[in-house]
Amino acid sequence: MRSKLVAGNWKLNGSLAANEALLRSLIRNIPGNAAACAVCAPYPYLAQVRDLLRGTAIGWGSQDVSRHEQGAYTGEVSARMLVEFGCRYAIVGHSERRTLFGDTDSVVVEKYAAARASGLTPIFCIGETLEEREAGATEKVLERQVRALLAKTEAHEVAAGVIAYEPVWAIGTGKTATAVQAQEAHAFVRALVASKDGGMARDLRILYGGSVKASNAKELFAMPDVDGGLVGGASLVAEEFAAIWRAAT
Ligand code: PGA
Repeated sequence: MRSKLVAGNWKLNGSLAANEALLRSLIRNIPGNAAACAVCAPYPYLAQVRDLLRGTAIGWGSQDVSRHEQGAYTGEVSARMLVEFGCRYAIVGHSERRTLFGDTDSVVVEKYAAARASGLTPIFCIGETLEEREAGATEKVLERQVRALLAKTEAHEVAAGVIAYEPVWAIGTGKTATAVQAQEAHAFVRALVASKDGGMARDLRILYGGSVKASNAKELFAMPDVDGGLVGGASLVAEEFAAIWRAAT
């Protein structure tokens, strides 16, 4: 059976002092075992996160990764560097990277491949905009994003990663997809993956992201195809994030 995962996406937030207070509180409140937990921090803080989380049940990762291995790519950080450093997860294709930094479907899939080639667990983000949902194009968008991955990725490499369904209209807006909307999208994505490999689809974790809070997490995580959450804003508040994690246990 799939185990649940709750991952925090700190985005461009944090300071050494704030991170330390947050992580110390998470360590006290997240004993692990029942569900996995991770935080994805800005690159400069990964060393601090690694040191504070060593020996705890909380995993950690980056918010992006280069599609390149090495060379003349100023500003990039490779998967090998992250793994060498002890990093486990890397978010790829977050909607903010897709819309603000030009990550296309094919770039995101290359990042996924680079992450897997080095042994990272990529968290592959997909999701429709409000305009697309209102135009009835949600499934079309999800299908395009997922098929881009399936076309270039071996079945076992897809199962080794995580997919995060994050409707763009729900990210940072306080508007959450209803549990039913999330379930519909997750079941659709799982069926797409099953068209490539049924066993892989059964094992694949599909997280929901978009204004997950302690108050809505339980209902979302109770859906049969929702295997946890990718949490932005609420992951910066220790009690809130710990409560979301408990909702997955
Ligand atoms: P949010 O962000 O929880 O603040 O909506 C989720 C995300 O962007 O991963």
